[in-house]
Amino acid sequence: MNIIVIGNGGREHTICWKLAQSSVVDKVIVVPGNGGTANESKCVNIDPKKCDYIVDNGEPDFIQIARHENCRMAVVGPEDPLAEGYADEFWKADIPCIGPKKDAAQLEASKDLAKTFMKKYNVACPASETFTSREAACEYIKKHGAPIVIKADGLAAGKGVVVAATEQEALDAVVDIMDSGRVGDAGKKLVIEDYLEGVEISVLAAVSVTPEYAVQGSATIVPFLPARDHKRLMDGAKGPNTGGMGAVCPLDDVTDKTMELFNKNILEPTLEGLIKEKYDYRGFIFFGVMLTKNGPKLLEYNVRLGDPETQAVLPLMDFDFASMCCAITNGTLKDFNFAWKKGYQVAPVVVSGGYPGSYEKGLPISFNQQILEQSTAKIFIAGAVAGQRKDRDGQTDLLTSGGRVLACSAYGETFKEAWEKAYQGISSVKFDKAFYRKDIGLPGAAESGKL
Ligand code: GLY
Repeated sequence: MNIIVIGNGGREHTICWKLAQSSVVDKVIVVPGNGGTANESKCVNIDPKKCDYIVDNGEPDFIQIARHENCRMAVVGPEDPLAEGYADEFWKADIPCIGPKKDAAQLEASKDLAKTFMKKYNVACPASETFTSREAACEYIKKHGAPIVIKADGLAAGKGVVVAATEQEALDAVVDIMDSGRVGDAGKKLVIEDYLEGVEISVLAAVSVTPEYAVQGSATIVPFLPARDHKRLMDGAKGPNTGGMGAVCPLDDVTDKTMELFNKNILEPTLEGLIKEKYDYRGFIFFGVMLTKNGPKLLEYNVRLGDPETQAVLPLMDFDFASMCCAITNGTLKDFNFAWKKGYQVAPVVVSGGYPGSYEKGLPISFNQQILEQSTAKIFIAGAVAGQRKDRDGQTDLLTSGGRVLACSAYGETFKEAWEKAYQGISSVKFDKAFYRKDIGLPGAAESGKL
């Protein structure tokens, strides 16, 4: 079977690598892909802008590519194409798709819609109010006080949330999000949420919900092992927020009791809501959860796998990822046999110097192959493109093209072993002004309030 994957990040490189391991997969077509997928076995990058068979017949280019390449399944990685309705187009073209249809994708694309859904179905979450007027939002903040959380309603590439420690910071955030134009239309509406103290975790899950599966009793959500992303730039959870400086999976501080409460108070009501809203949601969901002294509370849904969590979670899967995708799309996920490698995965991220501010692009990346092989770590490329030079094995060289350049993901039977291998692997990576955190997964590395 040929599969088309939409996206060009580290998450998509990891998805392609995992799909390519399946005996049922012949070819993975990546649109547009990156320098990592260009070098991955069975994977072929296709840039629609350079594709000579695409015609202007009203059909989206990604559907024309999928048909031309005889793809029998699609995986849409990022949130933007899902919010634009890529999944609807794939299903319309009779190509089963991993990723919710447009209406369900609004659970990530509109924070207001997500909060309305959570409240309607009694999903445990912080109290919140939605505002379309700056004056009303500021009045609410003055009455409520700080700390408090200000969120732009729409998609803002991770730049739409401000955790304000003081009332003044919160008032400034309202003006910044609504009036500065920094997040565009995403900031026309605001959700203002109570600040919760605790430690954050990410629970990624497979979802297979349609009205038909609900009638058959086969609608389900199956959570993966819990993971944690480290969002701050510097060691000790200091410095500015980023798209993620590294991830670990699983988590020793998440007990069975915590997962029971998560299932009862977050996952099950979410499943009930997806069914009652009659969504067609076949794909992945990401629960951003705060562990508080009053139990797990849901901060956000994302309608996709997390990045860089995927780079730590997928390598621990001891089952065929492509077969799981088929089970999601054909209503048999409830019977799918999930099995996980015992042990840990640690995946620190290497970023361009200057990130999350401005940074240089086009810098050549080199690897000390001997150290990398010794470490047994796997490099997942995020912000790098293939250069022109090919080595004897036909692998192309890599040039940086983004802020988060790559993750170095390693397995160990113990956390210590995984951590040491990941950092041995990362020491093999060289490019000018490369930067990474040295404490991913260590005590004190996670952003936390008091529990
Ligand atoms: N790591 C957080 C996210 O993917 O949104």
